[in-house]
Amino acid sequence: MTLVELEALQEQSLAELRAAPEAAGLEQVRVRYLGRNGLIPAMMKQLKDVPAAERPEFGRRANAWRTDLEAELTARQAAAAPREAVAPFDVTLPGRWHTLGTMHPVSRVIEEVCRVFARLGFTVADGPDIETRFNNFTALNTPAHHPSLDDTDTFWLGADQLLRTQTSPVQIRMMTSHPPPLRIVTPGRCYRRDTTDATHSANFHQIEGLYVDTKPVSLADLKATLACFARETMGPSVGVRFRPHFFPFTEPSVEVDFSCHVCGGTGCRVCKMSGWIEIAGAGMVDPRVYKHVGYDPEKVYGYAFGMGVERIAMIKYGITDIRHLYENDVRYLGQFA
Ligand code: PHE
Repeated sequence: MTLVELEALQEQSLAELRAAPEAAGLEQVRVRYLGRNGLIPAMMKQLKDVPAAERPEFGRRANAWRTDLEAELTARQAAAAPREAVAPFDVTLPGRWHTLGTMHPVSRVIEEVCRVFARLGFTVADGPDIETRFNNFTALNTPAHHPSLDDTDTFWLGADQLLRTQTSPVQIRMMTSHPPPLRIVTPGRCYRRDTTDATHSANFHQIEGLYVDTKPVSLADLKATLACFARETMGPSVGVRFRPHFFPFTEPSVEVDFSCHVCGGTGCRVCKMSGWIEIAGAGMVDPRVYKHVGYDPEKVYGYAFGMGVERIAMIKYGITDIRHLYENDVRYLGQFA
């Protein structure tokens, strides 16, 4: 092919383009000249047959042709494209529905419990998930040989650090940094090497309570406070029962039961026919704990309690498997809004 022929072809392609009617015609021109088997690519392949003297000029012109043709084609295609119709605004159409998120049952229980205790004069305190051996065990009068310190029970992060197994270490943090009186609740995450099943999870939540004062505080105050809490959360007819128990950091220690809200105490599946549901561990703060935090055991009085949040959520909402709380199925979790 010669330069003259190239020029003729170029003229022809532009003429065809101008004559092409609408979108389909333009596409034909594109395929004919620019397509994979089109004239321009074919011509490029033949560049080596062009006399050497003409080759650079030939190449330049061929490239210019392609660029021009492409530009013209794009412009024509844009002009030929159907204009997007502007939809008239229909004010009678229903609005777009945005679904709102719901609060997780665990967060809900934490908020409710803290709100009840806030009315009783408790403030909310916080502590870290990573704790020291001292705060989580030693200061809580838990001896080094206690089984809860074993690797099989506790997630140790080193000789001295661990993921807290309870919210009780926040008691230590608060007492070492504040003089009495102190009246706090502390919700938070806890970790234990438990095998997951319907009622156990290696990661769960507790709410700790602590009241220490320089005035006498007794087990009766603890019972009255928890009875008030029970009525606020379960209704006015709920019963509260203390059973003797043992915790290293309280003396005396009790386990706290509420009468079963499902059967009213006559016995059902939820309370395993006992009429009672275990809600919390509690007791009078052990004098040895006061020594560890620098309080004078002769001068302060106090009680502490700790309850499992998932347990309360399960009882309150009739959740039969703790894993439902952690599988993050919004269809399930959304029910408790
Ligand atoms: N920390 C105890 C537990 O995890 C509960 C508790 C808290 C008991 C405060 C007594 C006082 O089982």
